[in-house]
Amino acid sequence: EGSDKPPGNKWSFAGPFGKYDRGALQRGLKVYKEVCANCHGLSYVAFRNLAEAGGPGYSVAQAAAFASDYKVKDGPNDAGDMFERAGRPADYFPSPFPNEQAARAANGGAAPPDLSLITKARSYGRGFPMFIVDFFTQYQEQGPDYVSALLQGFEDKAPEGVTIPEGSYYNKYFPGHAIKMPKPLSDGQVTYDDGSPTTVAQYSKDVTTFLMWTAEPHMEARKRLGFQVFIFLIIFAGLMYFTKKKVWADSH
Ligand code: HEM
Repeated sequence: EGSDKPPGNKWSFAGPFGKYDRGALQRGLKVYKEVCANCHGLSYVAFRNLAEAGGPGYSVAQAAAFASDYKVKDGPNDAGDMFERAGRPADYFPSPFPNEQAARAANGGAAPPDLSLITKARSYGRGFPMFIVDFFTQYQEQGPDYVSALLQGFEDKAPEGVTIPEGSYYNKYFPGHAIKMPKPLSDGQVTYDDGSPTTVAQYSKDVTTFLMWTAEPHMEARKRLGFQVFIFLIIFAGLMYFTKKKVWADSH
């Protein structure tokens, strides 16, 4: 074991009033589609989700157009055959491999995990006293910090004295340092049409923001409701205080 501690980031979605950066969600979707999707599934996300409130902010028509770029397996039809058709909003992102064995075989024995929930799956508890902070922040930033660091943590040469087995790659942040994912991102690889830098650092932040949203699609609504509950409880406590004073006014 052993790996470097991922550096912290300033995520727009952090904190009790955090919101997703729409631009980052849209760019991150593009990075997922053009790069990560070659190996990783996103099987809990449907195309229609791209048009839901609190997400990347696409219209229903845009989500449908996005879906129609994909080929989706369907069937059996009346003749009993399976067939392929264009994707629809109700379809889920298709996975790159038909099954786990095929995924392993294509990746040196390690199956690329589904990315739908990865930012949550890679959160870790920090023990006393930081678990108190973690409780209030829903462990929010640990997973994203790790995923973003992992994508930027590849090095061509392992440090002196560290041997990396054939078919694995050195990564500063992967536990044990030898990962079977080849460095997926390089500068200029994905084009952006909003003028954002096309760098590994920017791609990593954008795709991580996108993967935070896939794991927590209702985060904005949840935080809004949480705040309203807070306000309600403060007002309610005040009301109860004056009620108590009135009810017990005559008792000495
Ligand atoms: C593992 C993200 C692209 C192959 C992982 C993990 C993450 C991740 C978070 C889990 C690491 C862990 O277990 O802690 C991404 C993202 C990508 C991307 C965001 C796009 C930017 C790719 C590509 C390939 C690939 C293009 C194949 C060429 C793998 C494999 C593993 C893996 C084989 C398992 C590694 C192991 O357990 O040793 N990836 N990945 N990934 N990824 Fe990727």
